Amino acid sequence: MHTFGYRANAVVTFAVSILALICCMASLSDNFNSQSPTAQVKVLDIFWFQRQPNGDDELGLSLNITADLQSLFTWNTKQVFVFVAVEYETPKNSVNQISLWDGIILSKEDSKFSIQTRNKYRFVDEGSNLRGKEYNFTMHWHVMPKTGKIFVDKIVMSGYCLPRDYLR
Ligand SMILES: *[C@@H]1O[C@H](CO)[C@@H](O)[C@H](O)[C@H]1NC(C)=O
Ligand SMILES: *[C@@H]1O[C@H](CO)[C@@H](O)[C@H](O)[C@H]1NC(C)=O
Repeated sequence: MHTFGYRANAVVTFAVSILALICCMASLSDNFNSQSPTAQVKVLDIFWFQRQPNGDDELGLSLNITADLQSLFTWNTKQVFVFVAVEYETPKNSVNQISLWDGIILSKEDSKFSIQTRNKYRFVDEGSNLRGKEYNFTMHWHVMPKTGKIFVDKIVMSGYCLPRDYLR
């Protein structure tokens, strides 16, 4: 004859293993979800572009950032952290990455967007390498699931070039 305590324990154990199984299936099913995000970044305007007194180049610009990240959202997606960065090469570093904008997307409805924004973070080079510099925009995303591992990926957009001369 089983005591009440023994039965309760068996029920809890069973519930925990079912939960573990569901979590496992949830993160597995994410891997089968085909993802096809798209992104475009356009420079609308460069307001200023100068060499700072300390010798570092800095510029201020406005961007049109358009993305469709809807395919990243499944029922297991908690939120998506997204950031747009510029990446370029200098004699000192093969990749310099500067984040210009970021955001947190909480729902699939908000994951298809087009925003016009100034750079949220400073666009400063460690040196005076930016005149006529070819660079890439990258859109990175970190998908934070309700259960399972964080998934990270990016889109690279190449073929951008900064002005040959400082402005103003
Ligand atoms: C921003 O870019 C998108 C996609 O290229 C375009 O449809 C939209 O008209 C642009 N908006 C502005 C203000 O340039
Ligand atoms: C920019 O993108 C091109 C094409 O994808 C790539 O070959 C190049 O290495 C990238 N530049 C940097 C600095 O990441």
